[in-house]
Amino acid sequence: MCGIVAYTGIRPALPILISGLKRLEYRGYDSAGIAVETKDRIVIRKSKGKVKELSGLLGEDETDLAESNCGIAHTRWATHGPPTTENAHPHAGGKNGIALVHNGIIENHRALRDKLTAAGYLFLSETDTEVLAHLVDSLYQGDLLDAVIAALKEVEGTFGIACMVHAEPGTLIVARRGSPIVLGVGENGTIVASDASAIIKHTRQAIYLDDNDVAQIKGSELDIRSLDAGSVSRQPAEIDWSADAAEKGGYEHYMLKEIFEQPESIRNTLRGRLDSNRGNALLSGLNLNPRELAELHRVLIVGCGTSMNAGLVGEYAIEDFAGVLAEVEQAAEFRYRNPIVNSSDLVVAISQSGETADTLAAVREATDKGALVSGLVNTVGSTIARETGRGVYLHAGPEISVASTKAFTSQVSVLLMMALKFARSRRMSRDAGCQFVKEIKAIPGLVERVLEQNDAIAKVAERYLDQTSAFFIGRGYMYPVALEGALKLKEISYIHAEGYHAAELKHGPIALLEKDVPVIALCNDGPGKDKTLGNVAECQARDSRVLGIVTEGDSEAIATVDDHITVPACPLHTAVVPSTVALQLLSYHIARLKGCSIDQPRNLAKSVTVE
Ligand code: F6R
Repeated sequence: MCGIVAYTGIRPALPILISGLKRLEYRGYDSAGIAVETKDRIVIRKSKGKVKELSGLLGEDETDLAESNCGIAHTRWATHGPPTTENAHPHAGGKNGIALVHNGIIENHRALRDKLTAAGYLFLSETDTEVLAHLVDSLYQGDLLDAVIAALKEVEGTFGIACMVHAEPGTLIVARRGSPIVLGVGENGTIVASDASAIIKHTRQAIYLDDNDVAQIKGSELDIRSLDAGSVSRQPAEIDWSADAAEKGGYEHYMLKEIFEQPESIRNTLRGRLDSNRGNALLSGLNLNPRELAELHRVLIVGCGTSMNAGLVGEYAIEDFAGVLAEVEQAAEFRYRNPIVNSSDLVVAISQSGETADTLAAVREATDKGALVSGLVNTVGSTIARETGRGVYLHAGPEISVASTKAFTSQVSVLLMMALKFARSRRMSRDAGCQFVKEIKAIPGLVERVLEQNDAIAKVAERYLDQTSAFFIGRGYMYPVALEGALKLKEISYIHAEGYHAAELKHGPIALLEKDVPVIALCNDGPGKDKTLGNVAECQARDSRVLGIVTEGDSEAIATVDDHITVPACPLHTAVVPSTVALQLLSYHIARLKGCSIDQPRNLAKSVTVE
């Protein structure tokens, strides 16, 4: 949520800042701005809209800007104040020529604003960030590091910040609490960013700041302090994905590229983690010894949005195969409702970004309550990965499109492996384990078969463009798929879509069915199919057109629905993955045909780092 880039070193700062912002634009894209140091002053340029509008403001003949070696930049996702040029970052603080960019929320901004207004500060924006810029200015006595530390001690809330002052050329101060900040350290200087995708083009050495770290950066020299504990040492980690992995690679959108990457990304998730001889999953990162595994009382899965939908598949599979009590819970609710959690519970926090504020808060709550807490995270080095200390990385590669696709299918793949591991530590036989391994290993091939139908799915999408509302229904393992299908459709095509258990439709939502309200029904062959086909008939009786996701060769299902997309025959717990991929393509093509902004849908941000 909001993207920060900053650079200080010997290279021209402007191209680094602009290309970094473009990389981070998926985090927020309602306005953007830069501040660069010139001989006489700090120049701030900002604009409403995307980074390309900002680039248009930077004249090619402005040599003082082009020659600058130090600057900060920001792409915004509005929290306080609408997306206007005035509210865009950087914000200037008072008389000292301080410029500051911020990601997060300053919770006591009102009290600070009143205090600073009384002291004569004039506010030009409605943002909480401008409060911070003025606060730093009010405490500045010739040393920006000291002023920032003093200011942050007065602040309640979350922040990732970068700031500079004209009197200290070539110096950046950055800090974090709750919002990620990564330092890319190279020979020619240091690039600061909200995530590693903005720095991999320049360096693979990344230092991830911890909460309450404040760093002074002069070129490649770093002085890192902790707000609570003085100087601290933070070791660089190697970033292991390539710059190419974050490019579109010839696809029209990142989302389509990421959908098509899934056979490979799932293979990467599974690689080295399945033992075909012993019929088991390794998952050594979970760090559970046989005794802990055997004594596991309950698995509590927390996450938001798509990650929570994947968690629901995990809940079903863990109870189904391992006979271990499992529950999925909205991370946003977890810490506020005082849940019952204890030391024989394993809490699994699922997050693509590893930075989602509510999921992180749930991790902290579960840790305080003494549970075993693990992360199921894609972004290496992210806060959730670091704070949980145990878990399973997805290895799905960078996910740039705001709508999550390949993270979901990798999350489900890991959860199935977890179910297998827990089951094998209990009553599942070796033979049954070997069969489960085979089924999991078959998933990438099943996805390939769905991707082959891309053109056919695009044709089906043409029939579902003009509706303003749609329902997705499924039961059993297909219920989470219905939820995920509806989420994908609404977020990228702006068609109002709801996912329901097929049986639940009759308890209210069926009142909304009529000719122009289609139903997308998960009718995969397996337990529950007959009942779902019965629900399909009920929808058709209310004039709804029904698009069925059906198993290849299932003539009964094909004859029942009005349109269909097929997925290969496989057990329902693995059919989750190809069926979801079919719905990802359906949503993608509907949004594309409607001309929507697919990779950056309105109002959304990739990483939701505020509550
Ligand atoms: C939907 C989507 C969101 C995220 C949610 C959690 O396509 O991307 O619903 O799944 O914001 O994000 P992570 O997984 O990063 O915690």
